[in-house]
Order: sequence, then structure tokens, then C-alpha cells
Amino acid sequence: MSLKLCLAGATGWAGSELALGIAAADDLALVAAVARRHAGRKLGDVLGESRLAVPIFASVAEALAQPCDVFVEYTHPDSAKANVLAALAQGVHVVVGTSGLTDEDYAQIDAAAREHQRGVLACGNFALTAVLLIKFAEMAAKLIPQWELIDYASAGKPDAPSGTVRELATRLGRVRQPRLEVPLEQTVGLRETRGGTLAGSQVHALRLPGFVIGAEAIFGLPDQTLTIRHNAGSSAKPYVDGALLAIRKVSGLVGLHRGLDAVLEW
Ligand SMILES: NC(=O)c1ccc[n+]([C@@H]2O[C@H](COP(=O)([O-])OP(=O)(O)OC[C@H]3O[C@@H](n4cnc5c(N)ncnc54)[C@H](OP(=O)(O)O)[C@@H]3O)[C@@H](O)[C@H]2O)c1
Repeated sequence: MSLKLCLAGATGWAGSELALGIAAADDLALVAAVARRHAGRKLGDVLGESRLAVPIFASVAEALAQPCDVFVEYTHPDSAKANVLAALAQGVHVVVGTSGLTDEDYAQIDAAAREHQRGVLACGNFALTAVLLIKFAEMAAKLIPQWELIDYASAGKPDAPSGTVRELATRLGRVRQPRLEVPLEQTVGLRETRGGTLAGSQVHALRLPGFVIGAEAIFGLPDQTLTIRHNAGSSAKPYVDGALLAIRKVSGLVGLHRGLDAVLEW
């Protein structure tokens, strides 16, 4: 029995690569896709992959009329929350790849998932090296009380910080609150240059051509620093294996879980 999937954002940079990964997996069957511009066409015709003969719908509501087990959200920060809540209301488990959702959004999503007894696995970054960055940074934060985060992305990325850095900051904030030597309001000069505060961490977001996605955690102790950095290249391939793992595992969860390491075997 294949797991039936609905993929929102199936024609996008990340979603199309994932759709090709799903097509190659024997245990997964895509039954519906969501994207506005190619609505009414078959996904396989758009992506040049004959195994993906599934209809593209303009909205999640239409796509969810096809019964499925797991809904994958890979559209845009503006539409992601409503899509996830719509899927949960239909009793479908959800994997979230889209970035830009806030902790408040996730609190609402968690409540809906628990109400419907379904799992939501939200991963700011499905790439293994990004997952390891977060894990190693958590280990460092237990021993080193001061750190700051840098978020690298392409010039056109609309949300800041990235989903990866949101997840990193949230996870580090649970370990402890980093210590600031000079309180932000006592900054001499331009306060904004000290970055934004997210879950206690100072975050500095760069948006420039030449970067795709990268995240860096810098830890400091007197006379020594530790830098842990993840970089991704220009293809969306690094995100496919992690997303497939999340899809296969999410039905074993109830409520919201953040980060792929929730289902990785360490
Ligand atoms: N978690 C991870 O590892 C990971 C990896 C890569 C990217 N991401 C995140 O995933 C999201 C998508 O990134 P991307 O680079 O693939 O974006 P993209 O290339 O712009 O693709 C977005 C896709 O969503 C569709 N879409 C957008 N808004 C929609 C709406 N309101 N209703 C229905 N369909 C809609 C687009 O088609 P139409 O415009 O035709 O509707 C397209 O298929 C971003 O938030 C990005 O940061 C996460």
C-alpha cells in the first residue's frame, strides 16, 4: 500500500525536485498537486516526468478533495498556515517545508493538530548538514553562554530570517538564553546593526546575489571562537531525502514537531 500524498507548490524550485523524488519512490504515490499558474494541467507534463500524471489544482481546498494520507506544504509564507490548517481539518498529516511561519503560527497549528489527532512535522531545512548544524549548535550552547547567528540567502528571498535560522534560534533558546555583554539599548551608534532578537539570539540576515541558503552559529569564549556553518548550493537536491523521510514518518506523530531530527535515528 503506497502512502498517498498531496504536494502544494509542486511546480516550484523545491517542490518540483521533491515531486521527482516521490515519482522515483515505490512506496509513495502523489495523488494531487497544487500551484496556480499551471492549474488544470498534469504535473508530469509540466515537469517532463511521465510517472507524475496527477492533476494540478489552483487551491488546496480543491486538491484535498482527492483522499490522501499526507499533505506537503512547499508554497509561500503567505499561504502556508491556511494550507496546513485546511489539511488538518481534513484529517490529513502534514509535512511543512515552507519557511516564514512564526512561533505563534506554529502554536495554532499545534493546537489544530492535537484537536484532530494528526502529526505535523515542520522542518526549516531538510538538508542533513543543516540538521547537523542545529544538533551541534545545541551541544555547544550547553557549554558556551554567548553566541550570535548569521543567516545567508539570495537577494530575492522574501522572508527573514530563514526557516533554518528560525529553527536554530528556537532550539538554542530552549537550551539557554545567550548572555549579552552590552545590553542592546545601550548600543552606542546604530542599534539595528546588532541584528534582530529571536528566541533570545541575535540574528543577522544577509540577502545578496551569490548566496543560496546558509546559516552560521558563532560561539565565543575569551580568546576563542567556534563557528558552525551549513551551506547549500543552487540545486534543490539536498532537501529531497529529508523531505521523503519526513513524509514516511509523520503519520507516527501527533501534534507539531519541529526539525527533521525528531524522526532521525541517531
Ligand atoms: N524546508 C526546506 O528544506 C526548504 C528547502 C527549500 C525551500 N524551502 C522553502 O519552501 C518554500 C518554497 O520555496 P521555493 O523556492 O520552492 O519557491 P517557488 O519556486 O517560488 O515555488 C513556490 C511554489 O508554490 C506555488 N504557490 C505559491 N503561492 C501559492 C498559493 N498561494 N497557492 C498555491 N500555490 C502557490 C508556486 O506556483 P504558482 O506561483 O504557480 O502558484 C510554486 O509551485 C519557501 O518558503 C522556501 O523558503 C524550504
